[in-house]
Amino acid sequence: MQVIKQYIEDNKQRLLDELFELLRFPSVSADPKYAPDVLNAADYVAKKLTDAGADNVEVCKTAGYPIVYGDKIIDPSLPTVLVYGHYDVQPPDPLELWHTPPFEPTVRDGKIYARGACDDKGQFYMHVKAFELMMQTGTLPCNIKFMIEGEEEVGSNNLGIFVKANKERLKADVVLISDTSMISMEHPSLETGLRGLSYLEVEVTGPNRDLHSGVYGGAVANPATILAKMIASLHDEDNHITIPGFYDDVTELTAAERAELNAAPYDEEEYKKDLDIAETWGEKGYTTFERTGTRPTLEVNGIWGGYIGEGAKTVLPSKANAKISMRLVPNQTSGAITKLFTDHFLKIAPTYVKVKVTPHHGGEPVVTPTDSIAYKAAQKAIAEAFGKQPIPTRGGGSIPIVALFEAELGIKTVLMGFGLDSDALHSPNEKYDIFNYYKGIETIPLFHKYFAELSK
Ligand code: BES
Ligand code: MN
Ligand code: MN
Repeated sequence: MQVIKQYIEDNKQRLLDELFELLRFPSVSADPKYAPDVLNAADYVAKKLTDAGADNVEVCKTAGYPIVYGDKIIDPSLPTVLVYGHYDVQPPDPLELWHTPPFEPTVRDGKIYARGACDDKGQFYMHVKAFELMMQTGTLPCNIKFMIEGEEEVGSNNLGIFVKANKERLKADVVLISDTSMISMEHPSLETGLRGLSYLEVEVTGPNRDLHSGVYGGAVANPATILAKMIASLHDEDNHITIPGFYDDVTELTAAERAELNAAPYDEEEYKKDLDIAETWGEKGYTTFERTGTRPTLEVNGIWGGYIGEGAKTVLPSKANAKISMRLVPNQTSGAITKLFTDHFLKIAPTYVKVKVTPHHGGEPVVTPTDSIAYKAAQKAIAEAFGKQPIPTRGGGSIPIVALFEAELGIKTVLMGFGLDSDALHSPNEKYDIFNYYKGIETIPLFHKYFAELSK
């Protein structure tokens, strides 16, 4: 432990400077205008892996953005940890809400403000630096492989193909990912599950052109009104989702599991204050933790139609659209849910409009084991670095690769995240605490140490 702390202390500024350099690449995978920056970010990651001491570093081409691979095999008879992360980030919009530019990392109050600071550059880069630390101090106790992708934020479409084609290269005993949250630094936690995702877009079309809302209004169905009604009908008064069959496959938690989950510290007042809301909301009969971690949901991610420019324009729009996502829990599958949604949405469409549903991407839910050697190693590492036992929680977000690794490679994952829900992932002013960054670099070598020890 002293060796680890000393190394971090001796390299403090450089560890931060390098992360800042990584954060300056606007590697937004969703928007093609950033393509050169995404590619440059991949090259930077590859260079840093090489510098840290990795072998076989390769920027592997895919049909989309490349996957950066690198490894260090010290002894084939030792266990192998596969570290996964993503160098792509969400779009920074709306730009005007950022207090400092999203791709010019700025420190305020001990926190790094930048798009990707927490999700996931700040977090995966801790692994690159922890690896460097282990190499430099001669303490790498097991084999390590890195796989850092560039399409996580857009559904990891090419990753499945890569994994299938590289089964031997990716062979490992466990996947280690830092791309999730902790409750707080005072209450370290380990996520033991992730929700799945079904994402689609809907379009409601009324008349064949935008109409004068005075000349035609009242006689022709307005697609925006119809879309709003259709969407509103997807939840009942108890905030249950009304799509027939939607809950059929949902695994209900046992009373003991619910009690364990709800034992985690949760401050409702703090939660509301952080979000500036008067009340929390959700499915009747469930707590906030249960709602985000164990229950499926349906959200509108964006909705538009008609005139949204400056001033006013009296128009009855021809079309209205929405992007809708559903978070899924164990036993639900994205394919089946996408179909249920599509059938239902077309069925509730009134005859005076046309409705189109276009699926985007999906991911399957996962629950990670808590009785494995790897999970125990993570528990021990966190307990030692934080001076407290981690609390198991269920994450509300999705990382599609986790289910895929399990299905294709038969490898389970440990989700050892160091972010906070309040780090504003995907929002303006995303941040990552410098403390968490160093704490992560300190905890990761301990994970490897205990994983190697417990595997003996
Ligand atoms: N790192 C997040 C997922 C996450 C965040 C899990 C916090 C648990 C806690 C990841 O980058 C992400 O945003 N995933 C997407 C899914 C993807 C298919 C677009 C998501 O959850 O929306
Ligand atoms: Mn992420
Ligand atoms: Mn994300």
